[in-house]
This record gives sequence, C-alpha cells and structure tokens, in this order.
Amino acid sequence: MRVIAFLNLKGGVAKTATTVNTAAILAGDYGMRVLVADADSQANTSEFLGMDAAPAGTLADLLRGQPDGGGLGKSCIMRSSLKGVDLLPADDTLMDLDLTKAEDGRLYTGCLKELAAYVGSLYDFMLIDCPPSFNGASAAALIAADEVIIPIKLDAFSLRGMGNLMRQIENMRRINPALRLGGLLPTMWYKSEQVKEAEEQLRSSGLPVYPHIRRTAKVDDMTFKQEPLTVSSPKSAACVDYRRFVRELLKEVPGRG
Ligand SMILES: Nc1ncnc2c1ncn2[C@@H]1O[C@H](COP(=O)(O)OP(=O)(O)O)[C@@H](O)[C@H]1O
Ligand SMILES: [Mg+2]
Repeated sequence: MRVIAFLNLKGGVAKTATTVNTAAILAGDYGMRVLVADADSQANTSEFLGMDAAPAGTLADLLRGQPDGGGLGKSCIMRSSLKGVDLLPADDTLMDLDLTKAEDGRLYTGCLKELAAYVGSLYDFMLIDCPPSFNGASAAALIAADEVIIPIKLDAFSLRGMGNLMRQIENMRRINPALRLGGLLPTMWYKSEQVKEAEEQLRSSGLPVYPHIRRTAKVDDMTFKQEPLTVSSPKSAACVDYRRFVRELLKEVPGRG
C-alpha cells in the first residue's frame, strides 16, 4: 500500500478536491482499492464521501486512543459512497484536538501508521486529506505517509508559504525518515501571465512539480452534487487534468513536468 498525504498549511488550495478526485480515479479507472483518511476537523472529505450519521469512530478517537495494534482503527473504517473507496472519517471533535500541540504526549500520533500497517494488504492506496495547519492530525499523517504531495494555488502568498512548509516536512523526517516529497501540484490554474510566471518559478526551484490542474467552476458544482468529477463532469478541464495527474502518480517518476 502506498500512503500519500495531501498537505498544505494554507486552506482553500484544493487538498480536499484533490483527495476525493484522486480516490475516485484510482478506484473507478484503475480498479485500485483506496482508503481515504480524513485528517481535517472540517470533515469536508467525510461528508463528500457520505459519512454515516453515526460512524463507529473517527480519527479523533484514534488520536486519543492508545496503541492497540490497529484494531480500533479498523473498526472505524467504513464504506464510502464511491465503489472501491473506504473512509476513515473525521468529525468536529477533531477540532478540540487541533488545539493540542503535535508534540503533546497525550496525542497518539502513531495511530495512522499503525492502522496503515494493519490494513496494508487490503488497500493499494491510502490517501490522507490533511488540515490547513500543523497539528496532531497532520503529524499523524506525516508519520504514516511514504510521500507528501502539496496542492498549491499559484499566488504570491502560497509561494511565500512554501519555505515554512518545507521546513515542517524536513522536521518530520526526523520521526519518519522514509517520508519523501512526492511533488507539488499546482491547482486552480488559469491563463494569466502571473500564474504562468509563478508556475515557472516553482519548476525552476528544483522541486518535483506535477502538471497543473485547471480552474473550472465544475469543481464547485461537484461539491454540491457530492459526486467526483469523473461522474459529475467527466469532460471538464479539471477532470482531464486530475486523470493526467493520476497517470503521473502511477508512473512514480520524480521530476515530472
Ligand atoms: N480546479 C479547481 N477549479 C476551481 N475551483 C476549485 C478547483 N479546485 C478546488 N476548487 C474550489 O476551491 C475551494 C477550495 O477547495 P478545497 O478542496 O476545499 O481546498 P482545501 O481542502 O485545500 O481547503 C472549493 O470551493 C473548491 O470547490
Ligand atoms: Mg479541505
């Protein structure tokens, strides 16, 4: 099983849109078995994927829990509304834990790694949708992950935030030396000189950069319809681009362009 965390300390950069569409494409187009872990207390991914009104448990329970060999985590996994995609949900109780520092010993940040080891033979991919901050849930995600992919909106604020983000990832390598930067994924791309320049700047940074995802209102529509782009707008530019992203992801070659 390949474990990928979608991370950016900024909100509104398409972490959730990327997680759910990547899951839908991996499962729907390639028949992969996918587990989506929602690590954001806003629970957008859980709602999108049709979380039960009363799940057996959520990531918050795991973070509060004690190491138990992954058994607790497995009972929290539920079927999602997408064929081939299962969900470890989040809920708003995760918000209380957001206030607890990642280093705080009261949080069991090894929980997702333990779960990944426990269910590793059942899935091809575990995709973790991270919160827009560095807290216990994102620490759990980066401890469990083999790679981190950074959806990034091409504006000046996002570019300036990159240094901080790279430092956080570097810090996590002390706990998880295997963690690698899978790549940056420019999202909400549109035709403009500034955006093109920003993209050039990213590519010349030497970091691996995936081909961009174009901006289209169909992504907002998708959130209302609660259907991934492959169902709600398969011909949209963003759907075409997410399919290209997944093709690249499956090639596993760094330095994409
Ligand atoms: N390619 C895109 N084109 C247009 N809107 C997008 C695109 N990707 C995401 N969005 C919209 O941007 C907003 C933030 O996306 P979301 O995935 O919720 O970000 P995050 O999880 O990083 O906070 C949402 O309203 C979403 O519909
Ligand atoms: Mg989100």
